[in-house]
Amino acid sequence: MKIQQKASSSTPDCGRDPVAALKQMFVDMTMGNRILAGQCPVRRAVFLKPHGVAKADFIITPGLPQEYRVGIFAHDRLDAWVRFSSDTLPGLGDLKSTVGVGIKLFGVPGTKLLPGDENATTADFILQNMDVFFVDTAMDMCEFTYAGAVEHDYNKYLDSHPITAKILDEMAKVVPSCLTSPYWSGLPYAFGDRFVKYKLEPIGPPFSAPPSQNNADYLAADLQARLNMGEAQFRFMVQFQTDLATMPLDKATVQWSEETSPPVQLATLVLRQQDVSVQGQAEYGENLSFNPWRTLKEHEPQGSISDVRKVVYQAGAALRRFKNGVPAVEPQAARELKQP
Ligand code: HEM
Repeated sequence: MKIQQKASSSTPDCGRDPVAALKQMFVDMTMGNRILAGQCPVRRAVFLKPHGVAKADFIITPGLPQEYRVGIFAHDRLDAWVRFSSDTLPGLGDLKSTVGVGIKLFGVPGTKLLPGDENATTADFILQNMDVFFVDTAMDMCEFTYAGAVEHDYNKYLDSHPITAKILDEMAKVVPSCLTSPYWSGLPYAFGDRFVKYKLEPIGPPFSAPPSQNNADYLAADLQARLNMGEAQFRFMVQFQTDLATMPLDKATVQWSEETSPPVQLATLVLRQQDVSVQGQAEYGENLSFNPWRTLKEHEPQGSISDVRKVVYQAGAALRRFKNGVPAVEPQAARELKQP
């Protein structure tokens, strides 16, 4: 995550309130600074390099056993829009950036956990191409971010936090295509009275050769080319917490072993064949907001990092949508796929 400093009226104070301090560093400082510098349209604080947004179908596996038909998974199929992005600046190359995916489901009844969006009929999932997060808790994230944003010295933090340094190193891997990479939630969620992490696993072999990774924007070019040629599918899976000691809820650098608890497929995410470059589609995706708390109680996000995300994502989305003159409301229905 690349955070910039801005002269701020007060110094972020992780010891007093890590959630407020992280909101200050991500939204007030990072986004505020870019807005002052003339960024237009205003973008997300992180994952601000989009690769494309695609219409999809979220198809719950037919005949799913009753124990898995919890919350969202009690449906048969739902409309979805999916945004692929990298956690880097739009002017920088895609190579070795962290790739993320936001999935917005439509037509989900029931009270949502995100304050202000209780009556929304959407529900979101957010995953990235790494099975762990690079810090354990909200306080660790605050201290890491403070080191970069305020002290301008990530190295001092990384020297004394070798696990974070190692994970960040592993995250800098080459992703040939957004459509052939697995993604993980990294953080746990409730699943009724149990706990799970989410995983998206691509199905089937790649159906075209990826374009040259010398192109700084090769992930967008690849996504556009592949979806023009045909649909793409992912297994949507949950990995159950089967052991409290080795599968903690608030220690995000700890991988939940897939050998101990193999992920179970509950649904298939089918990205339809489409031209993602049609007029208005990219803008539609940029103006969406994905938030892990925009979900049902059955899927409540867990751990202190999730508590931070509730505040920071909502504040960031509100600021960028206000500055871009876009209503900060959830869509009622999925945008239709308008193709030439
Ligand atoms: C305290 C920890 C974290 C902070 C402060 C943070 C901050 C943010 C912010 C400010 C945004 C932009 C929100 C918006 O404007 O709509 C964002 C988006 C995103 N974050 Fe995080 N994040 C955190 C943890 C994580 C974790 C654990 C993951 C792993 C899956 C993750 C993956 C993503 C992705 C993929 C997006 C882009 C979603 C989209 O397409 O809109 N983040 N994050």
